[in-house]
This record gives sequence, structure tokens and C-alpha cells, in this order.
Amino acid sequence: MVDLVYGMGITDIVRDFPAHFSMLTKYLSIKLFKSKPFIYGSADIINICNLHCSHCYWWKTRRNEKDELSVEDWRKLIKNTFKKHHVYVVTLVGGEPLMRQEVVETFCEEMPRRICVVTNGTYPLPRFKNLYFYWVSLDGTEQIHDSIRGKGAYAKTKKNILDYIAGPSRNGKPAWKDIWITMTINSMNYKTIEGLIEEWKGTINKIGFQFHTPFDDNDPLWLPFGENRSKVVDKIIELRKRYPDFIMNTEKQLQLMKGTWGGTKTTPIDCPSWAILSLDHKGKTKHPCCIGSSDSNALKPICEKCGVGCYSILVAQGLKN
Ligand SMILES: C[S@@+](CC[C@H](N)C(=O)[O-])C[C@H]1O[C@@H](n2cnc3c(N)ncnc32)[C@H](O)[C@@H]1O
Ligand code: SF4
Ligand code: SF4
Repeated sequence: MVDLVYGMGITDIVRDFPAHFSMLTKYLSIKLFKSKPFIYGSADIINICNLHCSHCYWWKTRRNEKDELSVEDWRKLIKNTFKKHHVYVVTLVGGEPLMRQEVVETFCEEMPRRICVVTNGTYPLPRFKNLYFYWVSLDGTEQIHDSIRGKGAYAKTKKNILDYIAGPSRNGKPAWKDIWITMTINSMNYKTIEGLIEEWKGTINKIGFQFHTPFDDNDPLWLPFGENRSKVVDKIIELRKRYPDFIMNTEKQLQLMKGTWGGTKTTPIDCPSWAILSLDHKGKTKHPCCIGSSDSNALKPICEKCGVGCYSILVAQGLKN
């Protein structure tokens, strides 16, 4: 089956016609009337993680709150937020979302085929009947991934992906189609991009790249703008020509990543931060975007140095603030 939109073929598009039609009308209203609807959603469904990765934004603003929303609280929230606004796809994050599988199940029940789970992949990957797909985070090849995410993390994740793929098809599609890898490029791992691609092409469906976004001007993990970063981007563009169906970033998006595309200091300017409704683990809206916080006093991401994929792809598609 040929992929037309983000891993979907013609049958998927016809089956979920209302969702695609709503998406089309939103794009038209943005272009014609300069409206600012929520197009996508993200939800931190859990306030816990089993890892403490050195690059992670979530730990920078996390509050140590124990009580979490119940499954029924989430069901109500989904209805009153994402479904009410006819959001196209909701990405579940955290923390580690696979530590609250009953909430993932609830999202999949409420919004079938419209839910992606972003996971560190260290827990076995369940076959959720109505999931859209998994984004599994791999931050480079084994040694470098483990230096960011902890010893043994890569091997666990690799095993869980391979076990999932070896299992039965899901809704008539082979299991490998469900696995997309996301790599966040930083100053430690940028030399392992090609190695990661070579290791996984032909095994999983797609790979997407974004760049590390700092919260502090002296963050050594940020890959500075300039010749070196531009070469990294050019290399991915070259690899994309070799593997066009595997690397999912567009050339336009990758070109944006060479410099500032989102905003000034910590203020979004061109970034369409309004397009993604981002909720934290309490269901409160995060600002200025999905890597921010609902607490206005929390540390802020530096828009000027931003490399976040889900917003830069929108800018590349012509959506601006
Ligand atoms: C916060 S994690 C939550 C989901 C899950 N625990 C995981 O690791 O995939 C979501 C994604 O954000 C990425 N990420 C973490 N810190 C980042 C940063 N400072 N800039 C850009 N992406 C970041 C992670 O690599 C991961 O792919
Ligand atoms: S596993 Fe995900 S949420 Fe947890 S620390 Fe790593 S990047 Fe952050
Ligand atoms: S995605 Fe980047 S540019 Fe946009 S608001 Fe967040 S940090 Fe700023």
C-alpha cells in the first residue's frame, strides 16, 4: 500500500474522511481568514519517568506532584478539549506514557487511529487496537544513546521494537508499520545519524529528526548554528534523497533547522505555537508550546535556538503565527 499522508494510504484516508475533511477546512480557514484553530494535540499523561535523560526538557519544569488524573478525568478532558476542537492527532508524552497504559487505552478508545505514543521503548510495546503509531525515541547509536539515556537503555528498546515487529499484524497491517523512530540531535550524538539510519532502515517504518532545544543559553547539548550544524542538515537532506520513504522530515523543514525559525529569545514569533493544544499531567494548558509548562514562573525554552520538529514542520508547510 502506498503512503499518501504520514503513513496513511487511500483506504485510511477514506475511512477517516470526517477527520481529514475537518483538517482541510481548518487549513482553509487559516489561509483565508487568518484563524488560529487547534490542529494537533499533545498530553503529558503521566508525571513519572523511569529514565532521567541528560537532554530532557520535561525534568526542567517538572513539579513533584503525586496525584494524577484518573482514567475518567482524562476521558472527560478528551471530550471537552481535543474532541471538542476536532483535533486531528494527539501525541501522548510524559514522563513515560507506557507507565500508564490504561490512559493510552482510553485515548485510543475516544479517538481511534488519531493517537500517537512517544515512548522511550524500555517497556514492552503493547498492541493497542486503535493506535495510530508509536514514536520510539532513539538518540543515536547504542553507545551514545546510552550515554544520554542510561546504560542498557538502547538494548532494551531495540529488543522491545524487534519483539513487537515479530508479532502479529495489527488491523491488517504488518507490525513494522507501527514503529517510527524519533532522534533528537544534539552536540553529543550528531555524528551517529547515518549509523542509526543504516541500522533501522528496512526494519521499521520511518525515522524523524529534530534538534535539541535549550532552556539555558549555555546548554552544551545545543548544536550551535553555523557551518557544522548546516553540514549535519545537508547530510540528512542527502540521506533523504537516498531513502525518501524512510526519512519523514521535508527538505524545507530541515533547511529551517540551520538557523532561527521560531522566535526571539523565549518568545515565539513565527512559530505557530497556537496550533497544538498541549496539556500537562493535570490537564492544564502548557505555554508557550508542548515543551513548556502550565506554570508561568517555570523555566522557558529558548525559541531563538529551537529545533522542535512538530512546530517547525508546520512553519515549513506555510503556517506562521
Ligand atoms: C519528553 S519525551 C516523553 C516521551 C518519552 N519518555 C520518550 O522519551 O520518548 C518526548 C520527546 O522529547 C524529546 N526531548 C527531550 N528533551 C528535549 C529537548 N530539550 N529538545 C528537544 N526534544 C527533546 C525526547 O527525546 C523525546 O523524543
Ligand atoms: S525517557 Fe523521555 S521523559 Fe523520560 S527523561 Fe528521557 S526523554 Fe525525558
Ligand atoms: S516550539 Fe520552539 S519556537 Fe515554538 S514556542 Fe516552543 S520553543 Fe518556542
